[in-house]
Amino acid sequence: MTNFSLFQGDICRLPVDAIVNAANTSLLGGGGVDGAIHRAAGPELLRYCRNLNGCDTGDAKISLGYRLPAQYVIHTVGPIWRGGAEGEAVLLASCYKRSLEIACQYQLKTLAFPAISCGVYGYPNGAATKLAIAALVDGLSFNQNTLEQIILVAFSDQMAGHWQAALAAQNLNWSHY
Ligand code: APR
Repeated sequence: MTNFSLFQGDICRLPVDAIVNAANTSLLGGGGVDGAIHRAAGPELLRYCRNLNGCDTGDAKISLGYRLPAQYVIHTVGPIWRGGAEGEAVLLASCYKRSLEIACQYQLKTLAFPAISCGVYGYPNGAATKLAIAALVDGLSFNQNTLEQIILVAFSDQMAGHWQAALAAQNLNWSHY
């Protein structure tokens, strides 16, 4: 049984098996949570990511966490919001499902997600978080699920409210991390 938790703060601080990075297709770092993760992980992360040959939107790739308290980083690339008629929802759901698949392949037990595409990429935050929780619930039913805890990370009160509304929409119990 996978439990859901909500954490408000910097995802880089979480001592979990893996944190998910909202990256870009180059996987060579950027701003937002991507920049924070690369700063906290140190230069070895970028050196490793240079060999990953990028990542398609909707896909995910894994690296070690290096200087992070998290053992691994799962880098996924969310869609840029362009109005909703260009497959953004399918691509965003895929980010969560591919990250789950990789976490289960590595038999991880704890996994933390930021609100993918909800910053620079401009995805409406309410829709993105509701879609994320639905995708996670769906993905958990398909994988050889090893996950004991999924932590949803909010970087603002407003985002915490969106995550709580999305969890409620799926009638999921959750706890504060
Ligand atoms: N911890 C947790 N969440 C964070 C952190 C952090 N340290 N920093 C930012 N966030 C939140 C943002 O507030 C937002 O809710 O993560 C969410 C995702 O925002 P972005 O980091 O801007 O990611 P995204 O919208 O997916 O855009 C990705 O931005 O940083 C670049 O290289 C990245 O090109 C890529 C694009």
